[in-house]
Amino acid sequence: MADKVRVAVLISGRGSNMLALAEHRRRDHDRSYEIVLVASNVPEARGLVLARRLGIKTWSLSHKGLDRRAFDEQLDAALRSNEVELIALAGYMRLLSPEFVEGWEGRILNIHPSLLPLHKGLDTHRRAIVAGDEFGGCSVHVVTADLDSGPVVAQERVRILPRDDADSLAERVLEVEHRLYPKALEDYARALRAAEEEAQDE
Ligand code: GAR
Repeated sequence: MADKVRVAVLISGRGSNMLALAEHRRRDHDRSYEIVLVASNVPEARGLVLARRLGIKTWSLSHKGLDRRAFDEQLDAALRSNEVELIALAGYMRLLSPEFVEGWEGRILNIHPSLLPLHKGLDTHRRAIVAGDEFGGCSVHVVTADLDSGPVVAQERVRILPRDDADSLAERVLEVEHRLYPKALEDYARALRAAEEEAQDE
């Protein structure tokens, strides 16, 4: 068993959370995880460029023209061939097939920009403002077959100000995401490894 948990980060765009996860690892050598692959369904995703600059291996395949299951099978093969143990979705804007989720049960985390179970899906910040919520925020959760519904492992609130629009709120929440996600992944990977070691001892 590798010392650090081998993580793949899945992205579809900008990749700022991926960067936060990667830089967290860089700041301290005593980390429970290492990012071994950044994968994307959008070959031109900006985050892939950032990952390569950091020396992280990348994989991409356009999902266009492939059905969900066929795409996920190829993704799965790339993850397995890189001996990935844990997946972190970071702005991965594509639903995963039930078969894929089942194959990685308990091994996929996602960051979602709302206080789950509120505002699942898209357009979360505008919906929080329209609903008159006092707080927006973000949640890290385990991915299950139901969209944005798996157990929440970390969450942080951000107060919604009277002058906020969706963009200004998104900006403040994103800063929190960059702090929350590395810590949550760190803790989850550590617990995963500890559980595996315990199972091995039995
Ligand atoms: C982040 O705000 C993330 O929480 C959100 O997309 C953004 C990606 O930004 N994810 C979702 O909405 C998932 N449903 P990034 O590419 O800069 O990390």
